[in-house]
Amino acid sequence: MSRIFELIDKLEKDRILLKEEFSEIISGHTSETDEYLFAKARTVRERVYGKDVYIRGLIEFTNYCKNDCLYCGIRRSAKNAERYRLTEEQIMDCCEMGYGLGFRTFVLQGGEDGFYTDDKIVSIVSRIKAKYPDCAVTLSIGEKSRDSYEKFRKAGADRYLLRHETANPEHYGKLHPKGLTLENRMRCLSDLKELGFQTGCGFMVGSPYQTAENLAEDLLYISKLQPQMVGIGPFIPHHDTPFANEKAGTLETVLLMLGLTRLVVPNVLLPATTALGTIHPKGREKGILAGANVVMPNLSPSDVRKKYLLYDNKICTGDEAAECIACLGRRMESIGYRLVSDRGDFKE
Ligand code: 5AD
Ligand code: FES
Repeated sequence: MSRIFELIDKLEKDRILLKEEFSEIISGHTSETDEYLFAKARTVRERVYGKDVYIRGLIEFTNYCKNDCLYCGIRRSAKNAERYRLTEEQIMDCCEMGYGLGFRTFVLQGGEDGFYTDDKIVSIVSRIKAKYPDCAVTLSIGEKSRDSYEKFRKAGADRYLLRHETANPEHYGKLHPKGLTLENRMRCLSDLKELGFQTGCGFMVGSPYQTAENLAEDLLYISKLQPQMVGIGPFIPHHDTPFANEKAGTLETVLLMLGLTRLVVPNVLLPATTALGTIHPKGREKGILAGANVVMPNLSPSDVRKKYLLYDNKICTGDEAAECIACLGRRMESIGYRLVSDRGDFKE
């Protein structure tokens, strides 16, 4: 037991451990070692970002997807998903409402939908950046060529989210159909970083077949990539997927991985995800207290929210953006943090 405290001290000092050492923490952590880790994670986070919690306005602009990832509720084979696409005008309307509510980052997220050609994405990004030069635009639209990424970057996109999902190639193969490879995913992430995007990788906790060693491998990959953002949330089964009957990831393990990630990359922008809020009523608050510093409320129009369901029982699908902001503001204040209206860039 004192061994785990020692390993946490070592991680705080060196920002890295051996794979076996990470695995030891992940397999042997207790509520006492967690409290010790989270206190350190908060100290590190507050040294860089204080008590500020950044908000990102998430615009889920299409749920069409050409991919068939086994875990995902909007996979191509999910025949019951009601598909939708937002027009450029609808996306601009979301930004206008979001800007009024204090958002200074817009995240355009969608399935891999060929309808939105590179030219269309470039046009949307350019329009948002022209109208809101004080805002950051984040794209989260999947695997593309380096050329495409370069066009998006030139159009003014500031950040890109692409979770690596798991850093172990065999595990990757069990979560994805043939044709999707970890190798290409990682190629995308290194291209994005080289092109100067603030880049986010990330993974689900408790995805089927995941081992403690796999989670250790995720931390080693994060340490190597040195991303500016890391998205971590629980896997939650979706009823219309091959993983419908699998167990969800646990709150405890997600919090542990948030705390460890904060010590691996002290300055990282780390969201307390909606999925974390879905598995526990205080999930996002607990995420912030474990070292997270970002929340990503939904700005999508209310009539499409219930259609962008990657997993079951997603929260906030009936609420207006304004309600979520007020609610999150109260939630953050209840734990001694504050939501801020700021681009919330990565601090070197
Ligand atoms: N449970 C939790 N997270 C999921 N994602 C996709 N499907 C699920 C699920 N069933 C996550 C993936 C993806 C991100 C947009 O959402 O990690 O990268
Ligand atoms: Fe959406 Fe609380 S954050 S209702």
